[in-house]
Amino acid sequence: MKVIRPSEVSTQDFYRYMISAVVPRPIAFVSSISAEGKVNLSPYSFFNAVSSKPPILIFSPVNSVRDGSTKNTLDNVREHSEVTINIVNHALVEQMSLTSTAYEKGINEFAKAGLTEVPSEQVKPPRVAESPVAFECKVKQVLPLGEGGGAGNIVVCEVLLVHVNEEILGEDGTIDPFRLDAVGRMGGSLYCRASGDAIFETLRPVREKGIGVDQLPETIRTSTVLSGSDLAQLANVPKIPNGELVQLYRDESTIQAALARYKQDVSRSPEIMHWAAKNYLARGETEKAWAALLINNESES
Ligand SMILES: Cc1cc2nc3c(=O)[nH]c(=O)nc-3n(C[C@H](O)[C@H](O)[C@H](O)COP(=O)(O)O)c2cc1C
Repeated sequence: MKVIRPSEVSTQDFYRYMISAVVPRPIAFVSSISAEGKVNLSPYSFFNAVSSKPPILIFSPVNSVRDGSTKNTLDNVREHSEVTINIVNHALVEQMSLTSTAYEKGINEFAKAGLTEVPSEQVKPPRVAESPVAFECKVKQVLPLGEGGGAGNIVVCEVLLVHVNEEILGEDGTIDPFRLDAVGRMGGSLYCRASGDAIFETLRPVREKGIGVDQLPETIRTSTVLSGSDLAQLANVPKIPNGELVQLYRDESTIQAALARYKQDVSRSPEIMHWAAKNYLARGETEKAWAALLINNESES
């Protein structure tokens, strides 16, 4: 591994490593107002949700590396401690990008980007009509992380309410990520889009504790076929399945085909059954994968 220390490269270069590695980052499209009531709208990808109760979002305007100047958004939240944080979907990317222009303080980026201001219910800064989700927030704290150029300033925002476009809700009333079509920021000028195959599901060990890779039978744990990811899927079960599972899936065509090859070529055992299990795991069929592996044990004994 190459080692890079912040003390040995320029602030810009280290920043590039950071923002290219910590990806994709969600984008807060932040609207704020100055003491005189001038509206500002700018994107911030040093952004995340960090607490549920109270509901807290944070973002971080970084002082200019070139001249140490502060972002208009930071000046605004110090003058008026309210913001709206709007979520950026794919349809909004170009307009969002345009608002990142370093316009002078007092210039309204809603107008510059052709976006529509909608009055908020509980805060003064307006929200973005075109955005699928908009949070109205009270700024609780501004936490400077250093002094001068490159220093971030964490803006801690308590969410007062959220507006959600009903078109992005699924049948169960929750936000459907495919309909949301959110974008994330990568390094440089690259973005990624959360849609299609980019969105996938993995089983979460929520209620029951998975046994863990260290508790898998040694023949499985030391398999030359199964990867770390395969083993983690297998280990995400509360206990090693029993013979009932084998009975349930014994007649599966993949298992039967592998078993036939296994019997012909005992020298390649248990690899053949491991390949069958791997194919099932690639399709997220963990039970069938276990059945293939347990049949393997049965055949050995
Ligand atoms: C997608 C995207 C994400 C950005 N994220 C940040 C960020 O997290 N922090 C930051 O200081 N600037 C960030 N910028 C740059 C600011 O948006 C830019 O400096 C802008 O002019 C700030 O506007 P303001 O001075 O009106 O607040 C980002 C730009 C883009 C396009």
